[in-house]
Amino acid sequence: MPVAVGIGLTNECNLACPHCYRPTLTQQRLSVPEVETILDNLDVGSVNLGVGENGVHPEYRDMLALFRERNVKTAITSNGYSLDMLSDEELSAFHSVELSFDFPTKKEMDEFRGEGSWEMASESVERCLRLGIPTSVAAVMMNTNYDKIGDTARFAFGLGCDLRVNVYQPVTGEEFTLSYEQFWRGFANLFAAGPVVVCSEPLVNAVMGLESSRGSPCGTRSIRALPAGTISPCPYWPAAAGIIPHLAGNGRDIWKSREFEKSRRVPEACEPCRFVESCAGGCASRRAIRNNIEQPDEYCPVVRGGEEEVRRIREMLRYTLSDPSDVPKAGNACTTVITTAEAAPSQ
Ligand SMILES: C[S@@+](CC[C@H](N)C(=O)[O-])C[C@H]1O[C@@H](n2cnc3c(N)ncnc32)[C@H](O)[C@@H]1O
Repeated sequence: MPVAVGIGLTNECNLACPHCYRPTLTQQRLSVPEVETILDNLDVGSVNLGVGENGVHPEYRDMLALFRERNVKTAITSNGYSLDMLSDEELSAFHSVELSFDFPTKKEMDEFRGEGSWEMASESVERCLRLGIPTSVAAVMMNTNYDKIGDTARFAFGLGCDLRVNVYQPVTGEEFTLSYEQFWRGFANLFAAGPVVVCSEPLVNAVMGLESSRGSPCGTRSIRALPAGTISPCPYWPAAAGIIPHLAGNGRDIWKSREFEKSRRVPEACEPCRFVESCAGGCASRRAIRNNIEQPDEYCPVVRGGEEEVRRIREMLRYTLSDPSDVPKAGNACTTVITTAEAAPSQ
């Protein structure tokens, strides 16, 4: 089965955002042969470039040429830097691009990401749209912006883009961690802003009543190659499952490695739950980061207050679907996308 491969060519970045999960203690870069090993040995359905700002890698353009030669569907998440440096032809080869905006105003974004970050990302969005490249805005939902996520969505819609939202993962610290109430309030704010295209955050998917996810996609339908040359089920996963050379030959099946198996583990306490099929314990990385892989997701309303709490949260989450027939295919990372497109009739 073709898999979505997340690749981080480098952990380096032109910015130093305070919430970022990328490792910063040493410089890490993948080599061209390592990327070739990935393409030669995995059934690569698509590649998404992330982790650091990929354009900082000295062989970034050679890597993009390699993806083009191999006809690999390639997407990138960027702050604009890695897009600005490309020719129109190179840029247009991306299947899609995402520009990161964590706040809906220049002032807030420049304060958070650094002076000039708003302008750099805005110029890139405009250029990508002009070139006709599918372009979306990516935002991380944190305790500092969950109440502004609707404004961020409206900002994205104003540009003509969908908004992709990932929940903050406490990889490097708790400063931006959402409380239980902020997590659900943030999703309610998000869903009030526009129709949902995809929600593969397993807990939210289940509680929304979609029940179209099958636990975290990481470790089953998606795999990450990190700049240190390691393989892991998810970019936030706290341990390496193996190294890139393990993908070559038949010496080792990475999908059966201890870390991948751990990422698919359903906590015992979740087994009797009516949502277990779709939720499977929620985000495995969040549980693993906290050394709580055997416990349900910390944002679980069933654990918090049983059926009554599930009803309260459902009441809060008023959503519309952009195209209900699309949602079952929902995505290959724990993510939520809302769109500028017309909403389907309300739920
Ligand atoms: C790690 S960055 C790499 C690409 C590029 N430098 C950028 O800013 O988009 C990719 C995305 O991950 C998000 N991100 C960073 N740290 C995160 C965290 N701890 N939890 C969730 N998402 C995070 C960023 O905001 C960005 O949208």
